Amino acid sequence: MVKLTGLKKIKTAVFISGTGSNLKNLIKFSKIKKSPISIDLIFSNTAKAKGLRFSNQFNIKKYVSSFNNPKIAEAKILNLLSKENIKFICLAGFMKILSKNFIKKFNGKIVNIHPSLLPKYKGLNTHIKAMQNKDEEAGCTVHFVEAKLDSGKIILQKKVKILSKDTPISLAKKVLRQEHKLYPLAIKKIFN
Ligand code: GRF
Repeated sequence: MVKLTGLKKIKTAVFISGTGSNLKNLIKFSKIKKSPISIDLIFSNTAKAKGLRFSNQFNIKKYVSSFNNPKIAEAKILNLLSKENIKFICLAGFMKILSKNFIKKFNGKIVNIHPSLLPKYKGLNTHIKAMQNKDEEAGCTVHFVEAKLDSGKIILQKKVKILSKDTPISLAKKVLRQEHKLYPLAIKKIFN
């Protein structure tokens, strides 16, 4: 894994597709002295992603490219990442699947946050699945990204209780609050 050298923070890109609450949280974390990363680029596969507004708000470069042709999109992104000297990637609600080739190029330097206690409930609708299965707990996972979806080595997990009054929406909110705590902790764990 990349280690912190001296006082320089590791240049990081965050990939999003939507709201970007994890992005905002990572940006705030990156600004504290003890953070090993700085956020230098926001990438989205859609111009509609609400999280892109944090580019202006925090003065961070943004780049949008649709994944209609994933090969071309990835080639463009790789170019940009190299130009910007980006060494680490955080996926935060990024809804596209990166190719084996892309992941190989950033081997061990891409992490993702997933709203379930992996290996349970890979893919979408995790909270609905947990409730349908009458699970007593749900949660979130930060893991390294490998070619197989939601399958890389787990860095950290956080559990929450599912209460009888919970709905998939209330559960999602509860898990998201924990995601905001977990992602910075996982990044600290990687680099310390
Ligand atoms: C989060 O629940 C994350 O775990 C999942 O997508 C959601 C993104 O939320 N991969 P936000 O865009 O960070 O608010």
